[in-house]
Amino acid sequence: MSLIFNLCSIWESLIRPKLVKSQKKNGSLVLDAPWFQIIFCARMRVFVKTYGCQMNFHDSELMLGILAAQGHTPVEDERDAEVILLNTCAVREKAEQKVYSELGRLRRLKGDRILGICGCVAEKEKHRILERMPFVDVVLGPGHIEEIGEAVDRASQGQKSLLLGFNGTKVLQRGVPRAVRSNPYSAFITIMEGCNNFCTYCIVPYTRGKERSRPPDEIVAEAEELAKRGVKEITLLGQNVNSYGMGLPEPISFSTLLKRVSGIEGIERVRFVTSHPKDCSEELMEAMASSPKIMPYLHLPAQSGSDRVLERMGRRYTAAHYLELIDGFRRAVPHMAFSSDFIVGFPGETQEDFEATLELIKKVGYHGVFAFRYSVREGTEAAKWEDDVPKEVKSERLTELFATQDPITERISESYLNQRVEVLFDRLHSEGVLEGRTPTNKIVRVKGDEEKLGEILPVKIKKTSMYILEGEIETEVSH
Ligand code: SAH
Ligand code: SF4
Ligand code: F3S
Repeated sequence: MSLIFNLCSIWESLIRPKLVKSQKKNGSLVLDAPWFQIIFCARMRVFVKTYGCQMNFHDSELMLGILAAQGHTPVEDERDAEVILLNTCAVREKAEQKVYSELGRLRRLKGDRILGICGCVAEKEKHRILERMPFVDVVLGPGHIEEIGEAVDRASQGQKSLLLGFNGTKVLQRGVPRAVRSNPYSAFITIMEGCNNFCTYCIVPYTRGKERSRPPDEIVAEAEELAKRGVKEITLLGQNVNSYGMGLPEPISFSTLLKRVSGIEGIERVRFVTSHPKDCSEELMEAMASSPKIMPYLHLPAQSGSDRVLERMGRRYTAAHYLELIDGFRRAVPHMAFSSDFIVGFPGETQEDFEATLELIKKVGYHGVFAFRYSVREGTEAAKWEDDVPKEVKSERLTELFATQDPITERISESYLNQRVEVLFDRLHSEGVLEGRTPTNKIVRVKGDEEKLGEILPVKIKKTSMYILEGEIETEVSH
């Protein structure tokens, strides 16, 4: 056993760092562990639990890909795992509390297992995690996802890792990583990391660092490889995709990237999140109108309908400008579906401000919205202001917001009744029931056999509820 560990140590300390350096230099990532490491190092079963947004979800897929390439095996039950990683979210206090209560539970389960805290809470809390929870082995921020393999190897030799911060480069170089993707037909691709916007309530610029874009050729190469493996739908990910490409040596617009990705043979659908209204351009409207492969669905977070609140949030647009954008997109793509995020109870938000939010919601007619009670995030600009909207008022406003939006969502769902929609079936809902999405991102379920997974098929909608449409696959062309 000690021989194995010695060989592993030589590999880790002498050979691998050189390889990493040279591979990073030519832009590729070290994902494949050489035969030496696979044979001699103890391989482990890994369980990753993910909180937060799609970027975090995909980071988990990347970490699993890196670990799988080193010979470790992903498992779906934490009790079967020798390595447990929590990929955490810090966007609201509740999300963070979840992590600490989960850690309390895992402390009892841990035994010899390796326990890692990754993602945004790791970056926000830093060494405080190890102080509060000394049984944690790895603390790894979003800027160090690619080092998860080394961190786990070190932990297996009893060494702790604290990998935080960002290296300050403006370009995000990942090569073509081989993530372990949970869906074989619909895949995420990260096109950029970080955020430079510093909305006054938001912790993300602190947990994910400055904005860095991936070179377009890497993104296109990754999408091409996915297409070869049968992926039909790509979702491009970034905190603010509309400012993609600005820091690259050869700047390129997001719309140009969208067109390149949608031009790839085999990729039938392209989606993207998230867009910031201040950076939405006519070029994007034109790109969406020009390619039927770019799905007619836009998540455009408004956050508030009150100009006073928007200004204090540092969002840099007005409600009128937001509505003009919606009109512009609707003119370009008439059946475009919209969704949004809202925060209620931001410091200083009056009843009148809140009513302006309800007005905006009514005017847009969203397919759906996500809404949250404002939560103070230590270190942000708004945390310096009094959190003066009482908790009960925040809750009442949240209830009222959904009472305004829900009938709209319901009405829009009902409008699909007897309509024919194209659905990409990408998952099995239950035995004999396929699930997929319309171009407008509505969930559709039909009876059908598994062989149809991965196909885009016409469906006649027969029944609707707020979030789910049910229908039948059309076998003949309807007139
Ligand atoms: N980059 C995206 C989303 C980031 S976080 C964007 O710009 O829209 C996702 C959502 O969480 C935000 O849109 C916002 O509505 C919400 N959010 C962020 N910080 C919050 C806070 N401190 N309290 C409550 N909600 C918050
Ligand atoms: Fe946060 Fe604003 Fe950046 Fe979105 S754009 S991640 S809300 S700072
Ligand atoms: Fe949460 Fe980090 Fe995403 S704070 S919302 S996981 S960027």
